[in-house]
Amino acid sequence: MTNRRITIDYIEYASVHEMEPQDRELVAAANAARAGSYSPYSKFRVGAALRLADGTIVKGANQENVAYPSGLCAERTAMFWAHANHPGVAFDTLAIVGANKDEVCELPAAPCGSCRQVMAEYQRLSGQPLKVILIGTHAIYKFAKVEDLLPLIFDSLKVE
Ligand code: THU
Repeated sequence: MTNRRITIDYIEYASVHEMEPQDRELVAAANAARAGSYSPYSKFRVGAALRLADGTIVKGANQENVAYPSGLCAERTAMFWAHANHPGVAFDTLAIVGANKDEVCELPAAPCGSCRQVMAEYQRLSGQPLKVILIGTHAIYKFAKVEDLLPLIFDSLKVE
């Protein structure tokens, strides 16, 4: 028997002002994307902004439904739209921000497991690390790759 440990690295920024201009722009886009949230049930408004390798920024926001499971998270809305409309263009960086109504969470809202799995799929398809930025008012986290949010990604299936 062997005890093993998985560690992850991420950067914590105290504020957006510490970030590179490109990332600052993505944070602003994620915040703007919250305006598209349709969240009458949870009142939790999530915005996501995805930078593609060609520089395009795609925005998404969570969409809820009276039949609850029919809704979709902000980041999956952005990723699915991006791949549907820009097939073959790699994903570079995804920024996510959650807010209770208009009050952005102090600590970054973490993406759900299904969204992490979808990130993993597009990272593999992209052939490059997908960076992820989680935005809060008191801290911003930046992860260099999806493995840092989803260790031991399922990859046993032989994919052509
Ligand atoms: N939500 C997201 O959009 N992204 C996440 O990463 C977590 C949760 C949405 C789904 C639902 O509309 C609301 O937040 C409350 O769960």
